[in-house]
Amino acid sequence: MMRPSSSQRIYARLIGSGSFLPGNPVSNDDLVARGIETSHEWIFGRTGIRYRHFAAAEETSSRMAKIAADRALAMAGFEAAELDLIIVATSTPDYVFPSVACLLQGALGNKKAAAFDVQAVCSGFIHALAIAEKFIASGSHRRALVVGAEVFSRILDWQDRATCVLFGDGAGAVVLEAAETPGVLATALHADGSQAGILSVPGQVREGRIWGDPFLRMEGQSVFKNAVRVLAAVAEECCQAAGISCQAVDWLIPHQANIRIIDATSKKMGLPPEKVVVTVERHGNTSAASVPLALDEAIRDGRIQKGQRVLIEGVGGGFTWGAALFEF
Ligand code: UT7
Repeated sequence: MMRPSSSQRIYARLIGSGSFLPGNPVSNDDLVARGIETSHEWIFGRTGIRYRHFAAAEETSSRMAKIAADRALAMAGFEAAELDLIIVATSTPDYVFPSVACLLQGALGNKKAAAFDVQAVCSGFIHALAIAEKFIASGSHRRALVVGAEVFSRILDWQDRATCVLFGDGAGAVVLEAAETPGVLATALHADGSQAGILSVPGQVREGRIWGDPFLRMEGQSVFKNAVRVLAAVAEECCQAAGISCQAVDWLIPHQANIRIIDATSKKMGLPPEKVVVTVERHGNTSAASVPLALDEAIRDGRIQKGQRVLIEGVGGGFTWGAALFEF
C-alpha cells in the first residue's frame, strides 16, 4: 500500500483505454424503415445524430464491459488479476443484482479487487472515475478499472419518437494507476434530486413483476436547458480547482447527447470546436458509456498526446453532473 506523506501527492494516472460498440451502425433512415414516425432531417437537425449501435439479445452491459476492459488492460500492459478496484457506471445492469462490476470481475478472473456499480445515469462514468481517483489518492488502492457500459436500447419505448431515436448501446473503459506524476488534477460532482422527474425510468420490480413504467421518460427541453447551464459551470469549477483557465484545456470530452448542447458548452468555455471530441454523430447517446467511448477513440487515433490536459464531463438523470480534469 502506498501512503501519502504530507509533501507527496498520489495521482491517479490514466494508462489504458478501451471501448466496444455492438453490431452495425443503425442509421436514422433505418429507424424510419422500422416504422418510427421520424426523419433523418429531424433527428440530425435537432441532435447531430446520424447513427447509433444496438446490442443483440445476448450482449449485456457486463459482456460489452469485458471487451472494453480487455482492450484497456492490453493498452495498460498488465493482467486483470493485478487490479485492486473495479467500478462500473451503468443504469442498465444485467440484473437487479449482482452488480455488473462483480460479473465483470468474474469474467476477468480477478478474485480480490473491490468491485461495485455506480448509478448516476449519463454522468455515471465521471462519478466512477472521481471515486476511483479518491481511492488511489488516499493510498488504499493502486490499480483501478473504471467502466461505463450501457444497453439503453432495452429501456426505450419504440412508440415514443421523442426519446427512442436518441440513444445507443456500448461500453468504454479506462485503467488508472497510482503515480507520483499527474494524473487526475481535479474532479467535481453534483446532483439535484428535486429534478428527478425530468429524466427517469419510473418502473419497479416488485412481487415478481414490473410495476409502473419500465421505459425511459424525458422532458427533453428541461434536460436540455439544465445541461447547458451546469456543464459550463462545472467545467469552470474543475479548472479552477486545478488552478488553470478553461482555455488552457487541450481537449474537452463532454457527454455525447446532443451536438447543440456540446457546442453551447464549448462556446461558453471559450474553446474552439477543434479542441472538442465529438462522437454523438456516430454513437448517439450511450449514457455512461459516451465519455469513455469518445476518450478511447481520441487516444487511439492519436489526437490526445502525452502531457496534454483533458477535461471530461457528464450530465444526466438524477439530476446529476460532474467533470474531471486530467493530464494524459
Ligand atoms: O443523456 C441525458 C441528456 N439528455 C439530453 O441531453 C437530451 C436533451 N434534450 C434534447 O436534446 C432535445 O430536447 C430533444 C432532441 C430531445 C428534442 O428537441 P426539441 O427541440 O426540444 O424538440 P421538442 O421536444 O420541443 O419537439 C419539437 C417537435 C414536436 O412537434 P410539435 O409539437 O412542435 O408539432 C415533437 O412532437 O418535434 C416533434 N418530434 C419529432 N418529430 C420527428 C419529437 N420527436 C420527434 C422525432 N421525429 N423523433
